[in-house]
Amino acid sequence: MKKKFVFKIIIDCIMGALFISMYFLTQTGILFHEVFGLLLGILVLIHLGLNQEWFKMIFKKGKKKTARTKRAIGINFFLIVAITLIIISGLMISIVLLPGLNVSHRYIFVAIHKLTAYGAVAFLLVHFLLHLKYMKGMIKKIAQHRRTKAVRQVFVSTGALVVVVIMLYAAGTPILENVTLQQEAQTTQEQKSIGIAKANQSTEQTIQEETVTSAEGDSGQTVENSTAPIVSLNDYLSGLYCTGCSKHCPLIAPACAKGEAQAQVATQDYENIYGDSAQ
Ligand code: HEM
Ligand code: HEM
Repeated sequence: MKKKFVFKIIIDCIMGALFISMYFLTQTGILFHEVFGLLLGILVLIHLGLNQEWFKMIFKKGKKKTARTKRAIGINFFLIVAITLIIISGLMISIVLLPGLNVSHRYIFVAIHKLTAYGAVAFLLVHFLLHLKYMKGMIKKIAQHRRTKAVRQVFVSTGALVVVVIMLYAAGTPILENVTLQQEAQTTQEQKSIGIAKANQSTEQTIQEETVTSAEGDSGQTVENSTAPIVSLNDYLSGLYCTGCSKHCPLIAPACAKGEAQAQVATQDYENIYGDSAQ
């Protein structure tokens, strides 16, 4: 049995498991999601590389394509576009791996990320079902040849690689979490300073406007006071993340009691900074 086929099936199974885990963010935590989401992107590239014969076949000139091939082309190309968008948008909204990126209009990238991720589910399912028979046959064949040198070698080397990845992840987790917490503390501090500066500016503006109003009041004209806060509560909370556990949920959408308590404290902070001007 060829090593390549054993390797292909192992990659397929790991990809399948990782894809499923991506839809359980609340359970896995954001660190796992980002690190293994990126790894999944790399595995898809390897998967495509291992199936390059298929690409050669579909791009071969003069070859008539059956309805089955056309359907596979549609599904596979949608999946390639979807995974590209998922990974790019994932990096743009990253909380742990690229916390300094701080893209403006983050919510647009979050929407792209979620839409493409949920949209890909149906296509992935069809892709998987179309290859189910092939996978079953291969797994059966591998089981029959499990004692051969080739099969053992592939299992031992991929098993060792999986162990190394898990160990690296375990070793890197505290470092990445520490960086994220420092970044959060800095963001909170910056937001507070900006908030205080803006609150002072807002107070000065109000005083100036009140002076103008009273001066103009004599001549019978009215001038509206503008005391709307420049940073809304939603804007303020969307830049903060819960530190209760490694999931680091955004404080705008806390997922547990700890997160809710931190969101309440942050709301109190916001009110202290913006005072009466808060809406
Ligand atoms: C975005 C993700 C994916 C893309 C772009 C993709 C693309 C492709 C392409 C182009 C082929 C060769 C043509 C064909 O036979 O249809 C293929 C084959 C295959 N795919 Fe995928 N695939 C993806 C995810 C998956 C996942 C998650 C699984 C497993 C659960 C999987 C299982 C298979 C299998 C079993 C084959 C047959 C050859 C092999 O074992 O590699 N694919 N895929
Ligand atoms: C194939 C890979 C991926 C899939 C299928 C995927 C899928 C998803 C899904 C379904 C959600 C919504 C979860 C929920 O609301 O419960 C989500 C959220 C998220 N993903 Fe991914 N993701 C992938 C890769 C990545 C990568 C590589 C990154 C970053 C490097 C990333 C960063 C995020 C972030 C930060 C959120 C939270 C967004 C928010 O609500 O603020 N994802 N992802």
